[in-house]
Amino acid sequence: METMLGGHLLHGCDYNPEQWLEYPEVFEEDLRLMKAAEINSVTLGVFSWSVLEPEEGVYDFEWLDRIIGRLWEADIQVILATPSGAMPHWLTQKYPEVMQVRADGRRNLPGKRHNFCYTSPIMREKIKELDVRLSEKFGQRDNVILWHISNELGGNFEDSACYCEQCQAAFRQWMKKRYGTLKRLNQAYWGRFWSHSYTDWEQIHSPAPHGEWTVTALEVDWRRFVTEQMSSFCLWEINAVRTYSKLPVTTNFMDFFKGLDYHRLQRILDIVSWDSYPQWHAQKDEAPVAVRASAGHHMMRAMKKQPFLLMESVPSGVNWRMFNPLKRPGMHMLSSMQAIACGSASVQYFQWRKGRGSYEKFHGAVLDHKNGSCTRTFADTARVGRRLKSLTGLVEGTVNRPRAAVIFDWENWWALETTTGPRLDIDYVSCVLAHYAPFWEMGIDVDFIGMDDCVEGYTLVAAPLNYMYKDGYADKIRRFVGEGGIYVTTYFSGMTDESDLCFIGHHPLEDVLGIIQEEIDAPGPEFENSMIFNGISYPVGNLRELIHVSGDTQVLACYTDDYVKGMPALTAHSFGRGTAYYIAAEPDRALLNALYKEAAGKAGLKNPLGIPLPYGVTVSLRTNQDGGGLIFVMNFKNEPAELCGFGQYTDGETGEIYKHQMILEPFSCRILISEETV
Ligand code: GLA
Ligand code: ZN
Repeated sequence: METMLGGHLLHGCDYNPEQWLEYPEVFEEDLRLMKAAEINSVTLGVFSWSVLEPEEGVYDFEWLDRIIGRLWEADIQVILATPSGAMPHWLTQKYPEVMQVRADGRRNLPGKRHNFCYTSPIMREKIKELDVRLSEKFGQRDNVILWHISNELGGNFEDSACYCEQCQAAFRQWMKKRYGTLKRLNQAYWGRFWSHSYTDWEQIHSPAPHGEWTVTALEVDWRRFVTEQMSSFCLWEINAVRTYSKLPVTTNFMDFFKGLDYHRLQRILDIVSWDSYPQWHAQKDEAPVAVRASAGHHMMRAMKKQPFLLMESVPSGVNWRMFNPLKRPGMHMLSSMQAIACGSASVQYFQWRKGRGSYEKFHGAVLDHKNGSCTRTFADTARVGRRLKSLTGLVEGTVNRPRAAVIFDWENWWALETTTGPRLDIDYVSCVLAHYAPFWEMGIDVDFIGMDDCVEGYTLVAAPLNYMYKDGYADKIRRFVGEGGIYVTTYFSGMTDESDLCFIGHHPLEDVLGIIQEEIDAPGPEFENSMIFNGISYPVGNLRELIHVSGDTQVLACYTDDYVKGMPALTAHSFGRGTAYYIAAEPDRALLNALYKEAAGKAGLKNPLGIPLPYGVTVSLRTNQDGGGLIFVMNFKNEPAELCGFGQYTDGETGEIYKHQMILEPFSCRILISEETV
């Protein structure tokens, strides 16, 4: 990827100059200040459809041509977007079928964005005509480096699928292909329950609030279909831009977006990119926010095991949360460095200049409405630009290569949160983040991988709330542990197969885990309970499994109260050359810290500095081919942090030597040169 992107870290922004076409002086100022802020790439055209094609079949590329040319003269690269993210009014007026239909059957009205039906042949045809022309005109320009397909596919909200009749018909076809016969479908759906057997493919309809919402398997299949259909739309656009161009393609992903299985969607992309808007300064303790941002970065990098692009972030504050803090001094630099530390090849913003009107006029941007470059935000941005520029040589050829993995799987997410019982508000993302936090606190990088991904090369795999086992998963984990891997999993795992049919007889990994699952309890808050692990008592949450152990399983902790007192709550089982841990009850943070410390030790994992880190401080390692690399040491506390007890390191940027001790400034990152792989 580095060669594709010209070998340097990108510092860029969404640039929407079509808003200012009548003001040439604005463009001149933009160019001048981009150079001053060390901006070396801009993303153009994300929402430009109505300007690129003001009337059906009438194209105007002159303005874009001119701007790309001027950017080239200024040595600024261009990521060129296809504009399907927002549709022009002439299109929706003439062809209402391009607009999405909601789950309740109502067609959307024109406007907003991300409002297109990804099945509609007209939508596909119209966007193709434009994309092919963009490809022809700009696909071979020297400073155009990457195609940015559409924008945040799936939209801003969790469920922005289209439910129109064309999508229903496509869904039925998809179901036919998946199941072949109605008999197989009915078996997979346990169709005789409530007389839900289908006798005709035409009876199939997507889940809906006023229709079928009670069948988890249907919900999961529908979401699988939506991912496939959206991927096919995205591929349609990829093929269109490839007509005259060989440039790589990306599309910008979002933070834990439930609507699309990114593990599948990423397969058709060359580069994974995402938009990251952590909610800094909502509370004084920034660590949980840093944990979530870090998880997102690691997930993006782990998809292709390659550097990813941070396509959008904000240099100050967003405008769409209930309250929108500005980044405190130091935070913009730190959060930008965090992305690089976790494997990003860029820091980019939404957007370059605040618009004067409409929805995002108060969304942070590099340039505000007033004061040109004389702003705190501009100075912060320019500082990041200068640092990225000087870092380029240092990070070149380095990439994170974690030996721990956390399973995060979209299909599991869909199934887990749709199924009924043991409680209705199970939150997969929070649980996964809770299991990731100890790694972040220890300074151990992880890959977030799907259940289909290979686990070879990892020494530890954590699989919290791994409810639905995909085909082949249990065998893969059996092999992994047998060959020496450390596996940590939890209550309510291994419950169902890919159709959400419960496993019968025993847990598919019973032999590996050394436990027998019996029931799961979700009592009210007054029914307190706890477990004692290594002499310390930890309260447990309200998901509590009743398990039994086989002979050689070690019981690490038992319930202390209630009718389950004395029953195992935490176990370890040696299987082959490895160990499988089972957490039967919802753990608190302290227990997870203690357990993962033990498990990481067993797996031979430690942070590259080899010392315990103070709370709020973490490290990430980007290694190079020779086994050396860079250690990013980050302090997410708004106060100095002291680190002691490590060896000797050179600061990769300043050349300063740190011997056994260093003080990190509030909200800061230092980059140390590591001579060896840990
Ligand atoms: C998303 C979109 C951008 C912009 C930002 C605002 O990331 O892709 O166009 O709306 O949100 O935060
Ligand atoms: Zn549709």
